[in-house]
Amino acid sequence: MRKKDTVRLGLSGLGSFSVVIANAVKRSKKVELVTCFDVVPEKRKATGERYGCAQEKSFEDMVRRDDLDGVLLVTPNAFHREQTELAARHGKHVYVEKPIANTLADGRRMIEACEKAGVVLLIGHVHRRHAGNRKAKALIESGVIGKPVMVEANLSSGQGWDLTPDEFRWRGDDLGCPGGALMTMGIHQADTFNYIFGPVKTVFSLFNKLYIPAPVEDVTTTIFKFESGILGYLGCNFASPRTNWMYIYGTEANLLRTVARVDRRFDVERKQSVDQSTRLELFEKGKNQPQEIPLPIGDPILEQIDEFADCILTGKKAGNGRTFIPEGAGLDSRRHRVRKNRETCGCGSLIVGRM
Ligand SMILES: NC(=O)c1ccc[n+]([C@@H]2O[C@H](COP(=O)([O-])OP(=O)(O)OC[C@H]3O[C@@H](n4cnc5c(N)ncnc54)[C@H](O)[C@@H]3O)[C@@H](O)[C@H]2O)c1
Repeated sequence: MRKKDTVRLGLSGLGSFSVVIANAVKRSKKVELVTCFDVVPEKRKATGERYGCAQEKSFEDMVRRDDLDGVLLVTPNAFHREQTELAARHGKHVYVEKPIANTLADGRRMIEACEKAGVVLLIGHVHRRHAGNRKAKALIESGVIGKPVMVEANLSSGQGWDLTPDEFRWRGDDLGCPGGALMTMGIHQADTFNYIFGPVKTVFSLFNKLYIPAPVEDVTTTIFKFESGILGYLGCNFASPRTNWMYIYGTEANLLRTVARVDRRFDVERKQSVDQSTRLELFEKGKNQPQEIPLPIGDPILEQIDEFADCILTGKKAGNGRTFIPEGAGLDSRRHRVRKNRETCGCGSLIVGRM
C-alpha cells in the first residue's frame, strides 16, 4: 500500500553505484523504492529481493506504471538521454547520476525533454553537498579569504587499473566514457567549481593515455578562466593512488580542503563518510599556522534524494548543477591531440551551471 506523501520511484541500472542510491532511498522518509530494472535479469532479481521491490522486464514497462512518480537513473552514461526522454514522455520525474550525458547535445536534449514535459530533472552531483565544499563556499561568501584569485584541484584514483571490458568506462567513445578520468571523477570537481565560483568562460585541456590497459585517457590536466576572471586548474588521473584536494587562493587567506580516503568499491559498505575524512584549513595572511575549520557530518546522498522528492512534492526548483565536460575535450582526446576548446554551449563555458 502506498505510504502517505511519499514519492514512489523506480531504479534503473543496478550496478555498483545503485547500491549507494538504493540504501539512501531506504534511509529516506520521503521516498520509497517501488520497482527496479537492469538489462541483466539476475541483477533485477537480486535487487528486488534485497530491497523488497518489484522488477520490470524493460525500462519502458517501468515508466508505463501509473503508480510511479519518478525514476532514478544509475545506468551507464550512454543511456542517460534515451531513458530521460522516455521517462519524461511518460510524465515521470528524473534523477540522473553524473555526468548528465556523454555529449553536450544529449545533455541539452535531456533538459529540453524535461522542461517540455514539466517534470523535475536533478543531476546527481553529490560533491557540492560535502561539508568541506559547502563550508568553503560559505567562508568565501562571508569574505574570510578576501577576493578569490584562483583555485586548483585534483581528484584522481587508481580505479583505471581495475577497468575491464565489461565495464562501460572501459571504452573511450560515446558509448562508454569519453574523457576517461575527467568524465568519471574530474566532473565532480568541475561541478564543485561551478557551485562555488560560477560559470567558466574559457578552457584548455590536455589528455594522455599512459599506463592503464583500457583504451581511455588515464591522465588529464585542464586550465580555465571563470566568467568572474579568476583562474583555475583541474588535474585528474586514473592511475595513481587516490587523491582529492582543492586549494583556493584569496587576497586575504587561502583555503585547503583535503579528503583522505583510499579507493574502495561502492558496493562495499563504508564505515566512514566523506565528511568524516575531510579537513578544511584556513591559511590567513600573516599567520604561521593554519586554522582547522570544524565541519558537520552530513548524509549527502540522502540529501540529494530528499531534494528530488521535495522538488516533486513542492514544485521547488532543483538546485543541482547541470555540469558538462566539453565535447572537444572528451571526444578528441583519444587521438591524444591537444585541443583548445572554445566550445560555446550557449555561454562559452566548460561548465554550464545552474544553481
Ligand atoms: N555520484 C557518484 O559518485 C557516482 C559514482 C559511481 C558512478 N556514478 C554514475 O552512476 C552511473 C552508473 O555507474 P556504475 O558505477 O553503477 O556502473 P556499473 O557499470 O557498475 O553499473 C551499470 C549497470 O547498468 C546496467 N545497464 C546497462 N545498460 C542498461 C540499460 N539500458 N538499462 C538499465 N540498466 C542498464 C548494467 O547491467 C549494470 O548493472 C554512471 O553514470 C556513473 O557515472 C556516480
